[in-house]
This record gives sequence, structure tokens and C-alpha cells, in this order.
Amino acid sequence: MAVTEKIKRDLLTLTDLDGAEMTRLFERTEALKQAQRAGASTNTLAGRTLGMVFEKASTRTRVSFEVGMFQLGGMALFLSSRELQLGRGETVADSARVLSRYVDGLMIRTFDHGNVETMARHATVPVINGLSDTFHPCQVLADLFTFREKRGDPTGCRVAWIGDGNNMANSWIQAALLARFHLSLACPKGYDPDPGVLRAAGAALAEKGGGSVTLERDPRAAAAGADLVVTDTWTSMGQEAERERRLRDFEGYRVDADLMARAAPDALFMHCLPAHRGEEVSDQVLDGPQSVVWEEAENRLHVQKAILEWLLLWPDAARGK
Ligand code: CP
Ligand code: NVA
Repeated sequence: MAVTEKIKRDLLTLTDLDGAEMTRLFERTEALKQAQRAGASTNTLAGRTLGMVFEKASTRTRVSFEVGMFQLGGMALFLSSRELQLGRGETVADSARVLSRYVDGLMIRTFDHGNVETMARHATVPVINGLSDTFHPCQVLADLFTFREKRGDPTGCRVAWIGDGNNMANSWIQAALLARFHLSLACPKGYDPDPGVLRAAGAALAEKGGGSVTLERDPRAAAAGADLVVTDTWTSMGQEAERERRLRDFEGYRVDADLMARAAPDALFMHCLPAHRGEEVSDQVLDGPQSVVWEEAENRLHVQKAILEWLLLWPDAARGK
């Protein structure tokens, strides 16, 4: 049943929640994960539907949202933009208006982040960013949850981002502000993160303290003493034509055993996947003892179930139901 009044929350970027909300989200994630492990059923979203609009490929995001809705007693609809009228020119705004009348929440994976914002502006139901060219908030929430499970609160810890200043890097920058840790990014010249995102998080952290964001060129310097080393593909979806140039430009930015040796001895390694083995990460690191990539992938499911409950039930909570 669609919400008719515009009382809703969206998750478009990691600036859409604060530290206290993130803590509550992770507490609920933990409970949902334990319930699922124990085989207990959770029907908090019985009768609710999530529409999932995909303009790009996906394995983890599609399956974890779909399974998550099912496990909460609801259902999810996979809506490929190729098969929607969206793919034939119906606007994002009109699609949002119409889909809001059928479903209780929308998830969108798209190229231009402006499409996510337009959908949120015109939808009367919560909108979740399932990845845009600029941000990937659900993934980084799953990563932060994974870090907390393994090492506890990341506040004050040192995180190294090695490689492309892409959607994941931008969300990690926002995460540094949300969770107050020290983030060092090493990106080759010409592949910096979004300057506005960098400026906003840097300025807010300088004022509030507890964390920092620094950008440099040297991956070894960024990795030095890190508690967590993170990377991602050098060629994101939509950049396939640039692949050969990128392979050349990112030479020296591979996360391998030598780079991991610069980090703290018990440092974790994360990658949102899909990995391009032998490019941004060596097999030895990806399959090695410091890698938590499979837990990270699993935690997409648990964290998103908590996100779905938070956003889809929020209108009821806001109305005191
Ligand atoms: N990490 C991630 O978002 O994976 P998919 O592209 O498979 O959804
Ligand atoms: N940066 C990658 C992330 C994939 C989950 C991409 O956008 O393709």
C-alpha cells in the first residue's frame, strides 16, 4: 500500500542518517542476523513490496534486497530499466509517481546520481540508492557493520582507500564523518574522489574532530599503519571503454601482500566485489586470512533488512502507529 502523504525518509547517501541512527541500525542488523541464523521468522514487512529499478548489472544488491524482503515477510519486484517504459523515455519523475502507487519502497541502481535524487523527490515512498556513479551507501554501511563485528567501533581507527576515487570512495569519505575515523585515500592523478564530497566531509571533520580525510598519490603512505585496507575495481560499470587506459594509469595501486605488509599486522582487507583478480587486488590478499570480503557480501543482506525496516516502517512510526 503506497503512502499518500509525503512523510518518508530516503537513503540516497550516507548524509541521510546520523551516528545515533547508524548505531540503532547496526543493533537491529545484529538482531536480524542472529534471528536468521537461529531460523526464527521475522514478519515485520508482511504485505509490503519493494520495487527495484536496475539500469546496471548486479549480483549482490539484487539478490540481497530480494531475499531480504522475502525473509521479512514482504516481496520485491525486479524491474530492469530495459523492460520498463523508463527505458523508452518515460521520465524518472513520472515513473516514481506511478510506482509509488503500487509499492511501499523503491530501490534504484542507476548511472547519474541525479536520477536517484529525482526519484526521491517525486516518489511518495522511501527511495534507497542501490548504487549510482557517485555513491554506494548500502555497501559502505555493510562494510562498517562488518568492521564493527570484527574489530568493534571504528571511531578513531585508520582506514586506507587504495585506487579509484569512485562511488565507493565517495561513500567511504561520507562514512569517515558518520563514524569518525581517519581515512587516507591514495588515488592516481586524474582519478580523485568528488571534490565537493571531499570538501564537505573534510570541513565537517575539522570542526567536529574525531576523524579526518586525506588524499594522496602514494598507496604505501596511505596504507601505513592502517586498521583496514579497502579497494574496488579500476573500471566501474559504464567505464568499460576506458579499461585499457585505466589499467595503465592504476599501475602500482594493486593491493598485494607487499602493500598489506605496510598496514597494521591485524589489518582487515575489504572489497565490495566483484573483484578483478590480479588487477586491483592479488589472489593472495583476496583469498588470504586478512580478507573479510565474503562476510562483507553476506552482511549486505542483514544490513539492508534493517534499512528496509527503518525506512518502510518509518512513516508508521512518524504517525505514531
Ligand atoms: N557490491 C555490489 O554492489 O555488488 P553487485 O554489483 O553485484 O550488486
Ligand atoms: N565501483 C563499482 C562498484 C560495483 C559494486 C562500480 O560502480 O561498478
